[in-house]
Amino acid sequence: MSDELEQRIEEAIRNPQNLGEMENADAIGTVGSADCGDMLRMWVKFKEEDGRKVIDRATFQTFGCQTAIAVASVATEMLAGKTVAEAMTMSGQDLAAPLGALPPVKIHCAQLVEGALRSALGGNPAESAAPANPSPAASTLLQSFPQPSPKKLKVVLDT
Ligand code: FES
Repeated sequence: MSDELEQRIEEAIRNPQNLGEMENADAIGTVGSADCGDMLRMWVKFKEEDGRKVIDRATFQTFGCQTAIAVASVATEMLAGKTVAEAMTMSGQDLAAPLGALPPVKIHCAQLVEGALRSALGGNPAESAAPANPSPAASTLLQSFPQPSPKKLKVVLDT
């Protein structure tokens, strides 16, 4: 990874924009990455502008790497004012563009953001979760993970 890219990612994660769940979102999308097992959820709110329905705001939560956080941060900023059709044409590369070109090993991190966006824009809050999310109605990303049953908890002491 280039120094310049690393620096931009560090800047983005030092002060991530639009981080956190959004109450009263119009759409929610969640995806998990088959490449690394990380997850990202995006909340989207729409508004009317000049007779068009555009994205007012987008927020995110992720169990992902620094690159995923940085891409989601810059992507959610770029999405404001876009129509659904415009947003749906954006690739992971487009969403990561303010950071610069990602190395091949980090492209799936941007695709995680793209996937969550497409999941949100392709469905409604009750139905938009991707298969990686076992509980679509969960409001936080943490809640979407199955909770372990106390009866099944096994503690192994390392001696
Ligand atoms: Fe999993 Fe980046 S390594 S999202």
